[in-house]
Amino acid sequence: METMLDQLAHLETEALAALPTLADESALESFRVAYLGKKGKLTALSAGMRDVAPADKAAVGARLNEVRSAITDGLSSRKDALESARDAAAVAGIDVTLPGRPSLGTGTLHPLTQIRDLAIRTLRGMGFALAEGPEIETEWHCFDALNTPADHPARNESDTFYLHDGRLLRTHTSTVQIRTMEAASELPIRIIAPGAAYRRDEIDATHLSVFNQLEGLCVDRDVSLADLKGTLVLFFREIFGSKTAVRFRPHFFPFTEPSFEIDIQLEAKGREAKWIEIAGCGMVDPAVFTAVSSTRKDDLLDPAAVSGFAFGLGLDRLAMILHGITDIRHLIENDLRFLRQF
Ligand code: DAH
Repeated sequence: METMLDQLAHLETEALAALPTLADESALESFRVAYLGKKGKLTALSAGMRDVAPADKAAVGARLNEVRSAITDGLSSRKDALESARDAAAVAGIDVTLPGRPSLGTGTLHPLTQIRDLAIRTLRGMGFALAEGPEIETEWHCFDALNTPADHPARNESDTFYLHDGRLLRTHTSTVQIRTMEAASELPIRIIAPGAAYRRDEIDATHLSVFNQLEGLCVDRDVSLADLKGTLVLFFREIFGSKTAVRFRPHFFPFTEPSFEIDIQLEAKGREAKWIEIAGCGMVDPAVFTAVSSTRKDDLLDPAAVSGFAFGLGLDRLAMILHGITDIRHLIENDLRFLRQF
């Protein structure tokens, strides 16, 4: 009678010879069942272990495991080989080195997003951190704390969107100055706040009722007008080019004293360049520090001890000047013929 070792050798030879003839998934499965399944040949053989002489058990057991692994491994390589062959057949005749055919064009960032990102990048590089505040605001944050008296025209119902509960849609991002100073825990404060502002304006080529501003605030001991000028001249030259002329024209804002409007003159290319109004700025009015201090438990912002500068500009306007856009409404119409130009 054949010994157990002989039977194992035969089974192994038979199984390994059969593997290369298996041509598909179902043949592989039948093979698996026939050899490795519960009623399979190998399983049947292993039942014979019972009758093996104790002295031979270790050697026969090891051989049994060896044969099982050989069949299992052979089966899985055959499976891999069949899969690779199927994949190769699927791409046969296709030139996989051909460049793809673009079906959807790639989008681009909106010009407003581009200018906002550029402004943020530039000012962050100069040490300003990003800050934000709510678009629905209290009169306190939008006006009172910013030293804007109750009878100031900006507070009129005809200029400002008021909600029924007395709150309002912020008319400028200067509100974030107040929010930031209320929450500050140390000096210096150096923040920028890009965001939406709302006014009841007649919509035309230069006005929308929702527009975009960027506010800046720097507060510390001994901040001077020279810091303000240095920062903003550098900023506008980064945005509009190093040959840009920048001038500070005395103006009035309730929350700064002194206050200025900033005009820029782009590098003249042949013709006489115009001065273009681009931003408002000034030294933080001590009355603003006093108002904020009234909400704080400490004297971090004691008007006798700190000073600061602030500025605010329209991002829509910045984009319009930079790209020569003559109608602000283009920025919100999402006409692809317009947007594709950026
Ligand atoms: N809040 C002003 C506006 O909306 C802009 C402005 C002017 C902001 C002067 C400032 C500033 O911080 O110092 O017209």
